[in-house]
Amino acid sequence: MNMHKYEKIWIFFGSATLLVFLTLVGISAFYMGNKPPSCAVTLDPETVREHALFKEPGLKEIGDNEYQLTIVASAFDYDVGNPEKVIEIPKGAKVHVSSTTTDVIHGFEIAGTNVNMMLEPGYISTYTNTFKNAGTYTLVCNEYCGVGHHLMSATIEVVE
Ligand code: CUA
Repeated sequence: MNMHKYEKIWIFFGSATLLVFLTLVGISAFYMGNKPPSCAVTLDPETVREHALFKEPGLKEIGDNEYQLTIVASAFDYDVGNPEKVIEIPKGAKVHVSSTTTDVIHGFEIAGTNVNMMLEPGYISTYTNTFKNAGTYTLVCNEYCGVGHHLMSATIEVVE
């Protein structure tokens, strides 16, 4: 079979790209421990406020430079524990983020960080992130949830 030179180059390029990406996925999954959210932790969306985690949303220190951040989402608001909707996190802190929704599906993205989750009624979404850079970050809803979707936001201040 006679194959054109460019065809050979293209087949090589395609195979090499596939190999590179499979290797990256493998390193990410097995070496760095990245995995999709388990969605294993459930709660009753009707009684979110009675759940121990979500009684008092906000930032709590749980260890040496380690924090638990709890936020309750609902249409069209993030309850972060204060009416100003501002969370102050010390730079370099390890933060375990837990959030859920009391009504429809919402998004949970802290723009400029790796925190990007979907909040589904009945499930607790969690993500652990270390905030290495000081600055102002915006928590936004990135799942269309209704007429007030664009109003859902809060501010995260990472301070020295
Ligand atoms: Cu909540 Cu979009």
